[in-house]
Amino acid sequence: MNSIAKKFIQTLQGQAGAPPPFWLMRQAGRYLPEYRALRQTAGSFLDLCFTPDFAAEVTLQPIRRFDMDAAILFSDILVVPYALGQELKFVEGEGPRLGALPVFSDVDFAAFDQKLSPVYATIRRVRAELSPDKTLIGFAGAPWTLACYMIQGKGDGEFAAAKKFALTQPAEFKRLMDRVTEATARYLIEQIKNGVDAVQIFDSWAGLLPEPFFKAWVIEPTRKIIALIHQNYPQFPIIGFPRGAGSLYIAYAEQTGVTGLGLDQIVSLPWARQNFGAKVCLQGNLDPVVLLIGGSVLEQETRRILETMRGTPFIFNLGHGVIKETPPEHVAQLAQIIRSF
Ligand code: CP3
Repeated sequence: MNSIAKKFIQTLQGQAGAPPPFWLMRQAGRYLPEYRALRQTAGSFLDLCFTPDFAAEVTLQPIRRFDMDAAILFSDILVVPYALGQELKFVEGEGPRLGALPVFSDVDFAAFDQKLSPVYATIRRVRAELSPDKTLIGFAGAPWTLACYMIQGKGDGEFAAAKKFALTQPAEFKRLMDRVTEATARYLIEQIKNGVDAVQIFDSWAGLLPEPFFKAWVIEPTRKIIALIHQNYPQFPIIGFPRGAGSLYIAYAEQTGVTGLGLDQIVSLPWARQNFGAKVCLQGNLDPVVLLIGGSVLEQETRRILETMRGTPFIFNLGHGVIKETPPEHVAQLAQIIRSF
């Protein structure tokens, strides 16, 4: 990390300011014509992720266009299962497909590091090109969300088979979760070594779990990962995103050790502000559909969020990723509304 003040990091550490810093989940991606062009050149999505020149370029594309306060490393959460030895491909128009669960008796961490080395090269390249007042966010999937894909081999939004595996094969599930937790901490620490300024942990399917399982499979592994990172890098800023957690956002904010908390669009901002806004920096939570629509709805909703969060440390974002049909002009409109606030 360098010493030039980054508004984004200061906000995460508890300083309120206006206008708030902003970035968008999936800010690099298919809604941008320059992304689609480079994706064509790269061939497969994984080739794009694992070619540092390409991945660095894609990371920087939205910053050039919209001047966000933070760039997010271009990669995918599923590179961790891949580096643990599970086959992975992305099928056009269908999403990720994973092979059979690997045997986890002994994880070959030398091979793991080797497979992920292009990601670390991408980070070094982006950090060298990104202006020092901009934040580079690294990321990983949380163990529960990764386990969902690893067990089922693909996404279906419900993950009943993953839940069934967890509840009927508890010893195997625990071994899987422990390995993924350890690997994820190692991966994030390596990202930090190579130059990211903050990390976000995506738990996209946290909202599928009843309270006892949420505590065991979302809060507990996340707490472990954060403790391991903080052993090496005390106070390092970490954003957690337990999408769909509802009232369990409170326990997550209190028990995991996160610095910042990503809110999905269903969460009430006054409620979040009152219940855990003093403990963590809040981030969110414009509905991605509102960004897709644009116009006066986008203007009204953005202003509502900005007004509600005035005077408290806050990072403007969406409640989930940019939808691929979103016109880039709507992102420009959003950036303008935030900056002029
Ligand atoms: O701009 C960014 O946010 C950084 C890059 C990023 C991607 N995926 C690129 C991507 C990040 C942070 C992710 C996280 C991710 N990946 C999550 C957690 C966040 C969330 O959306 O809930 C999850 C669950 C995944 C797994 C994944 N990757 C799925 C289910 C899919 C297919 C669905 C889809 O949108 O096509 C992907 C593919 C993927 N990851 C794309 C991108 C830009 C599209 C690939 C393409 O170009 O064809």
